[in-house]
Amino acid sequence: MKHRQFALAFAFLCFGSATQAQDAKAAAAQTVEPDKPLYTVVDGYKVDPDTLQGFRTWRAAACDRCHGANQEGMVGPSLIESLKVLSRDDFVTVVRDGRLAKGMQSFGADPRVMDNIDKLYAYLKGRSDGAITRARVSAIE
Ligand code: HEC
Repeated sequence: MKHRQFALAFAFLCFGSATQAQDAKAAAAQTVEPDKPLYTVVDGYKVDPDTLQGFRTWRAAACDRCHGANQEGMVGPSLIESLKVLSRDDFVTVVRDGRLAKGMQSFGADPRVMDNIDKLYAYLKGRSDGAITRARVSAIE
């Protein structure tokens, strides 16, 4: 009897989450500006133009050399984990000023990075939130 109840509950859970997944196909995260989502992602890897630019900034600045191609961490920490804790302002400060004594370089003099810092943050936050499910993203068609 117990087993049957469990099986039913399980079937309900599966059904429920499958429907939810479809509803959330085009998931949008919380906003910086009230009317614009931080990032928009479809199917886990198709993103809005700003977030795509954030990914290109990540590649151009070669952050992956130290933080890993999937942000999983190497010499530097996992940014998937870090961005769950760091505020947006902390993020900007670390990237701008670096932590030179600890091996994190400063990008304050690199306009490729600083001009795109919000977009870079959006991309990395999407990765950290688990909404962007793979590191290499492409445009929403
Ligand atoms: C030369 C290696 C290197 C490169 C390149 C590099 N980082 Fe780092 N980064 C580190 C190290 C090492 C740390 C850890 C510093 C510490 O211990 O406080 C770090 C720390 C950070 C932190 C703070 C993490 C935390 O939890 O406090 C952020 C955010 C970060 N890096 C983002 C970036 C971004 C974005 C780029 C590219 C624009 C980048 N890093 C490029 C080595 C690097």
